[in-house]
Amino acid sequence: MSIPLRPFGRTGVKVSALALGTMMFGPRGNPDHDDSIRIIHRALDAGINLIDTADVYSQGESETIVGKALEGRRDDVFLATKFHGQIGDDPNHAGNSRRWIIRAVEDSLRRLRTDHLDLYQVHRPEPDTDFDETLGALSDLVRHGKIRYFGTSTFPPSAIVEGQWLAERRGRERVVSEQPPYSILARGVEREVLPIAQKYGLAVIPWSPLAGGWLTGKFRKGGAQPPTSRGAHQPGRFQIDAPENAAKLDAVEALAQLADQAGISLIHLALAFVLEHPAVTAPIIGPRTFEQLESQLDAAQTRLTPDVLDEIDKIVPPGVTLSARDQGYQPPALDPSHRRRPA
Ligand SMILES: NC(=O)c1ccc[n+]([C@@H]2O[C@H](COP(=O)([O-])OP(=O)(O)OC[C@H]3O[C@@H](n4cnc5c(N)ncnc54)[C@H](OP(=O)(O)O)[C@@H]3O)[C@@H](O)[C@H]2O)c1
Repeated sequence: MSIPLRPFGRTGVKVSALALGTMMFGPRGNPDHDDSIRIIHRALDAGINLIDTADVYSQGESETIVGKALEGRRDDVFLATKFHGQIGDDPNHAGNSRRWIIRAVEDSLRRLRTDHLDLYQVHRPEPDTDFDETLGALSDLVRHGKIRYFGTSTFPPSAIVEGQWLAERRGRERVVSEQPPYSILARGVEREVLPIAQKYGLAVIPWSPLAGGWLTGKFRKGGAQPPTSRGAHQPGRFQIDAPENAAKLDAVEALAQLADQAGISLIHLALAFVLEHPAVTAPIIGPRTFEQLESQLDAAQTRLTPDVLDEIDKIVPPGVTLSARDQGYQPPALDPSHRRRPA
């Protein structure tokens, strides 16, 4: 069964309803290049045509692996990467400045063995950098043919709207997509981000549709701590007995039962839920192994009935994110003096 295609926002490009994330390829997840390439090829053969990576994933090694995998197949893929995260030690090799963007894109193109990117994403907002500076640099990259489109990731609703207005008022190219966190356990974006994306015709490619593994069935209440590739990078977030995760474990028990009743796996229930939202273009799956990829591919054909969707709403209400850390974006901490008027 092949994976259906969906429009990528209003660009006219068609992408597969599942995207392949490559954050797990490289020392941070699967250090075996040949195995990672085998997973990428299997995904392409199954009909996935959108690949997502980032310069910061294993400090460039994920991009290197993707570049090797796409030798001879580059034109079949809508290739997306990101900038913003810290690369190496130089404090200016990070962020959203024109200076770094112009340098970072060249590094990504070299590692990805291509002369252009299809989508270049701002990995996170940078409150201290004028957003128009970032949009200006990205617009220049479009005009120079280095990138076809640009998008954002984990942006708050206000910044998504600001990007659209800046493009219109300052003659910049338009942001065409947003990559937010979205899963049954992290539904915060249903309040504003997804409706805004629909209003402006943005493509939406959610990350962590399985909540980083919580929705695979391996984390169970009263069960043993499962092995996870993430514990070391994000202490506590994948710890089964941490109080911050208690609500997630309760939800998983109810969702696993619901999936059983519906006759599908918890993984398919979770991915089909994200696919069902009308704002969503393609959830980005993040397999670390070949078997993990296989467990997810058929989800694109799974549709949830209205009854099952209603039951999910009872377990995790619309707009609710059970653990604040799963929201992805934390607004900057307030300076204690913020409410003092200058004397
Ligand atoms: N823009 C952003 O800020 C951002 C943030 C995160 C991710 N992303 C993108 O989104 C992609 C997906 O994110 P994600 O990796 O967090 O997605 P996810 O699907 O929520 O989680 C993937 C993890 O689930 C576990 N898993 C998957 N299938 C499994 C199975 N059959 N059995 C047991 N465990 C299974 C694996 O954990 P183990 O490795 O522990 O086995 C795997 O690493 C990434 O590759 C990246 O491209 C973007």
